[in-house]
Amino acid sequence: MNEHGKLELTSLNYGKDRPKAKNPVKIEDLSLRDGHQSLFATRGRTEDMLEVAGRMDEVGFWAVETWGGATFDTMHRFLAEDPWERIRTLKKYFKKTPFSMLLRGQNLVGYRNYADDVAVAFVERASENGMDIFRTFDALNDYRNFETVVPVIKRCGKHFQGCICYSLTEPRLGGGVYNLGYYVAKAKALEDMGADTICVKDMAGLIAPYDAYNLITALKAAVKAPIHLHSHFTSGMAQMSHLKAIEAGVDILDTCLAPYAFRTSHPAIEPLVMALLGTDRDTGFDINLLAEIDEILERSIMPKYKHLLDDTRISIIDTSVLLHQTPGGMLSNLVNQMREMNAVDRIGEVFKELPRVRRELGTVPLVTPTSQIVGVQTVMNVLNDTPDERYKMITDQVKALCFGLYGKTATPIDPEVQKKALKGYERGETPIGVRPGAILEPELEKAKKETEGLAKDMDDVVLYALYPVTGKRFLKWKYNLEEIPAECRPKTLEDVKAEQELVKKAKSGCLVEAPAKEAPEKGTGVRTFHVFVDNEYFKVEVEEEGGAPVVRSVSPVAAPAKAAAPKAAPAPAAKKEAAPPAVDGTPLLAPMPGMVVKYEKAVGDKVAEGETLVVLEAMKMQNALPAPAAGTVKSLNYCVGDSVAKNAVLAVIG
Ligand code: CO
Repeated sequence: MNEHGKLELTSLNYGKDRPKAKNPVKIEDLSLRDGHQSLFATRGRTEDMLEVAGRMDEVGFWAVETWGGATFDTMHRFLAEDPWERIRTLKKYFKKTPFSMLLRGQNLVGYRNYADDVAVAFVERASENGMDIFRTFDALNDYRNFETVVPVIKRCGKHFQGCICYSLTEPRLGGGVYNLGYYVAKAKALEDMGADTICVKDMAGLIAPYDAYNLITALKAAVKAPIHLHSHFTSGMAQMSHLKAIEAGVDILDTCLAPYAFRTSHPAIEPLVMALLGTDRDTGFDINLLAEIDEILERSIMPKYKHLLDDTRISIIDTSVLLHQTPGGMLSNLVNQMREMNAVDRIGEVFKELPRVRRELGTVPLVTPTSQIVGVQTVMNVLNDTPDERYKMITDQVKALCFGLYGKTATPIDPEVQKKALKGYERGETPIGVRPGAILEPELEKAKKETEGLAKDMDDVVLYALYPVTGKRFLKWKYNLEEIPAECRPKTLEDVKAEQELVKKAKSGCLVEAPAKEAPEKGTGVRTFHVFVDNEYFKVEVEEEGGAPVVRSVSPVAAPAKAAAPKAAPAPAAKKEAAPPAVDGTPLLAPMPGMVVKYEKAVGDKVAEGETLVVLEAMKMQNALPAPAAGTVKSLNYCVGDSVAKNAVLAVIG
């Protein structure tokens, strides 16, 4: 590099045997975690990683990210795969490249703060199973939330990478909260904690090229630890930011293999290898090997995942991120949530309310889980608030944030919102001033007891401690005590071909065949559903008979004007909303589709009006639903773990 920060050409040998650059940019590959989490709903299966794992090990990556983030949740919930097993299996193929995982501080790989004993056990088990680098972050950049895990990472002899979540107060770096001084102070704090490397985690793709230059320059001057930049492509700036970061002396960059790159994922590695070829920061990677891996992926892996790619837009960049300074994943979640509530036309109000809610909740960085907390509360406000009352329905997570359970926010929480959120809060009405983990009761022994006879080792217990409802269900699948549902089973290339055949048939109008039997008389229990298949609309009448729903008639009708706009998913249409049926007593209706997490009362219990009766998980948030009236619980209509539609009668009070 010369004195102007420009790269110097040092070699004209472009072959595989070219001399090693003076200071090669180190690369972490994210294809197997953030890549498929960003593009394919985290649905990547272990078996599909094995086909290229051996070749990936030959590239020379500084590390491969293989675990953490949403993978743990998705694997045991939707793929019926043991997350621990994935690390052990991949380790057999990656013989020299270290593994990196994303650890959400005291949230580990979940969405709430876990007790210290669970955090310790988790890091120990992850280390033992083969994890090498712990990329640790806290959504609030409150490093007190690292105090439990970091000593365990160090004790296990592993690499502690401390993250600074990149956030903005203005459209560009600077302004009141998230300015250069903020980031330098955070980097120094991480170095004091013993960070082996420091990562700027730009999860929304917000970092602009010249801001990246100034930021990396300032960090390199302030701390000794190598600097790593993690930036999503979402807004379209990441490749430019990478290059400016290289000019500023960044040590490590994050990229994906081309099939896992761009859109809301990361820049691709291949163009970067060419851009740096022959310079003093040459990666040294063999471009032919990368092309070979890409070819295998394109041919035999990606067809299984193509249907998960968001193809609602042609553009691969999301300009609304530039407008709202909000992660792309969060934006698409918001749109989906509004769609589930049949209110997608009010998304503009959500974007308007969002900065206000964020400010009121302490100008938190928008990263999992705070992005969800702020996002879901914003949706709640838009849907439920009246002109004279805001925050009419407050999620449990917002209450926890106001109580201090996530940590210290960048700016103080609005006192009025805080007071309202904590009114009658189960943990107390006065926020805590200490490290959140310090007030949590140990959870591990309880988890051990609750899984007695089911869990076979500590990995099972920790999985259950992290995700009690879905974790228990997974353990039953794992030990053949319950059958794995068909939708959790892997898709093969043959399945993909069969599906394409079906689509072809449907398009040519041959899919609906003449009924073999005459339809019986319609009974009184007939319910009508609207089913949307792309732009076609069907009216379907369903009546339960002998326990199984029977489709009585499928009649295509002209699509109503509104139906064509959103690309509605056809299958769960029936789950979305049920008309409230007549019941004897006061029903507690599900205010939104979700999953029953627990009942706080049993049948026959007395309940006061407003007392929590059911906890419903919706949009990954737990919502305590209050009893609509005082009385005795007459019935609880669902089991823990059941998915329910909007307006489903969860309980009846008589
Ligand atoms: Co990321």
